Amino acid sequence: MRIIAVAMTKGGVGKTTTAVNLSHGLARRGHRVLLVDADTQGQCAKALGVAAEPTLTDVLLGEATILEVVNRARENLDLVASDHHLTKASLVIARREYDGHLALAEALAPVADRYDFAIMDAAPGVDAVAVNVLGCADDVLAPVALNPAALAGVFEFVRHVERVARHNRRLALRWILPTFHDLRVRQTGEMLEQLRTHFGGRMCTPIRVNIDLAEAFGWKRSIFEHAPQSRGAEDYGQLVNEVQAGSCVAQREPEGSAEREFALEP
Ligand SMILES: Nc1ncnc2c1ncn2[C@@H]1O[C@H](COP(=O)(O)OP(=O)(O)OP(=O)(O)O)[C@@H](O)[C@H]1O
Ligand SMILES: [Mg+2]
Repeated sequence: MRIIAVAMTKGGVGKTTTAVNLSHGLARRGHRVLLVDADTQGQCAKALGVAAEPTLTDVLLGEATILEVVNRARENLDLVASDHHLTKASLVIARREYDGHLALAEALAPVADRYDFAIMDAAPGVDAVAVNVLGCADDVLAPVALNPAALAGVFEFVRHVERVARHNRRLALRWILPTFHDLRVRQTGEMLEQLRTHFGGRMCTPIRVNIDLAEAFGWKRSIFEHAPQSRGAEDYGQLVNEVQAGSCVAQREPEGSAEREFALEP
């Protein structure tokens, strides 16, 4: 089982949208996928219209095994849901002295042979559960919204991943996924170029702004169910290609580069 953490400390950058649609996209291509919601907001169950109980909290508190909390979401796609009780699990994990960062890895171990991919939807911020998500992952897929505020936080996140990687040697920041790509916004090309300069071959094809992605959530459908002809479905289909291939093929070139205004320093 390959564990991919969809993570970024900044909020609202498209983590959940990416985790849900990547998971369903992989499942539709025949991969066995476990989507794990690691956020108190509990958005994954809502996005797919799946029961929100039992939850990951039960597992992290030692009150259930992972197999007991898995819910079938779609063909080939299972979900471990979360809700606000995850805060309690986070506090308990934080008190474990030596191996608190391994609680989630231990929890997932029993299903390692059952799935091809585990996709983790991380919460924003850096609490104990968020550290656990990186502590158990093989790869990080980091959505970066193409706006100056989101870009400013990228290198802090890179340092955070590096710190966790000292404890989890498998961990690699493998994919940078530009999100909210909108050519009408000045400096979009410039921001993409700066990311490319720093992350090179780790850059995925950007996800464009697409209202269908936001609306799909309300209908409890993935983008492939809600609007299969949309730009959102096309872009997330491309991301599925890139994850399947294990590399990025950033096909869409940025347009409309503007003056250098954004500092993106390591
Ligand atoms: N490409 C897109 N085009 C338009 N809307 C989008 C796009 N991607 C995500 N959204 C919408 O933007 C909002 C934030 O997205 P999402 O919840 O995926 O971010 P997040 O990083 O998981 O947020 P949080 O940090 O709070 O967990 C949601 O309303 C979502 O539907
Ligand atoms: Mg989210």
